[in-house]
Amino acid sequence: MKKKIAFVGARGLVGQTLLAYFQQDLELFSNFSWSFFSHDSKALTEILSSFNLEFNQNSFFCLSSDSEKLWEADIILTTQGSDFTNRYWPKAKEIQWNGIWLDAASALRLHPDSCLVLPPLNGDYLKFSLSEGKKLFIGANCTVSLLLIALKPLLIPANLIHWLSSMTYQAVSGAGAQGMQELLEEGPQHFPRPIKHNIIPWIDAPSCKEEGLTKEEEKSFEEANKILWPTQQETLLIDSLCVRVPVLRCHSQAITLCLKEDISVHDLEKKLKENNPWVKVIPNTQEETYKNLTPLDYQNTDFLGIGRIRKAINISKSSNNKNFPVYHLFTIGDQLRWGAARPLYEFLKILVPL
Ligand SMILES: NC(=O)c1ccc[n+]([C@@H]2O[C@H](COP(=O)([O-])OP(=O)(O)OC[C@H]3O[C@@H](n4cnc5c(N)ncnc54)[C@H](OP(=O)(O)O)[C@@H]3O)[C@@H](O)[C@H]2O)c1
Repeated sequence: MKKKIAFVGARGLVGQTLLAYFQQDLELFSNFSWSFFSHDSKALTEILSSFNLEFNQNSFFCLSSDSEKLWEADIILTTQGSDFTNRYWPKAKEIQWNGIWLDAASALRLHPDSCLVLPPLNGDYLKFSLSEGKKLFIGANCTVSLLLIALKPLLIPANLIHWLSSMTYQAVSGAGAQGMQELLEEGPQHFPRPIKHNIIPWIDAPSCKEEGLTKEEEKSFEEANKILWPTQQETLLIDSLCVRVPVLRCHSQAITLCLKEDISVHDLEKKLKENNPWVKVIPNTQEETYKNLTPLDYQNTDFLGIGRIRKAINISKSSNNKNFPVYHLFTIGDQLRWGAARPLYEFLKILVPL
């Protein structure tokens, strides 16, 4: 019998990106029996009808009035946001709902019972966790997922990174549909300051952990390490400074990276491509950078670009850094794809045979 899956949040940006994957993979889609939940079922129906997917017309529900229907599902897939999660996850626990909860929101990422979902990095761990009866699976922060996929060969199987610093340039769609609408002048101001012709060097609320740190920045260390080493034998030292920029889609990151051993830029470029089919390494020339290393080159694709790879020659000269050479690189990826929807889509593929 098909597993029943309740999809909450399909009309949002991450939800629609997932629907686009299902549209390309009708076999996966047809492996589940779907129901859809929204606070605005009319808007949801309109969105769903624009996708070439076959739906049972009786499977659309209004979240405000029909939420009890959620508990009939074997899997709840939510891309609705943390408000939904904070409201309905406690309810699921209260009624001892025993299904799998798959979520894009940040609310439960650091919950002790949750596994962060990034199959190219931790697919085996996810399979093991399912076999152990784990039920709570959460997509990681968008910049974290993009960063780990971009640098995967430097982290797995061995961690070659001594520390790294990421300065982010995050698209407005990272803040949902209303962020995009502001930049397109189709909706009211969504960000705390106007985003058009501007940048905002503060994303999310202040962190409670340290003065001056934002929650978005806190996630880089916490979530990257939870994905890489769920049993905490090792630590990747990572810090970030996160900035919102007036780009519609794709997050970019300027990364400063201290490696544990000295390798040539040529070897570093080669290493970054190893077993990493999603990465395009762009030679560090003016021509190639202009041609192939801007957000417009990666929006609506599953590829990540990595370029501007060079040794930080002046910093590396310092006697403190002699044994640990420092490099710069710049990476770009569509945060709605590998940063949000694609890991959930890959996880659903793992669930099908179970
Ligand atoms: N955007 C990203 O790049 C990204 C990356 C990683 C993780 N996430 C996380 O994923 C979750 C969903 O993000 P999102 O970007 O999909 O947010 P979103 O576009 O704002 O959609 C989330 C929900 O907001 C409601 N909504 C309100 N106004 C809307 C409008 N004008 N258009 C569409 N939906 C509207 C919808 O719920 P109802 O239908 O129930 O009203 C929708 O499902 C969040 O928790 C976010 O933190 C997002």
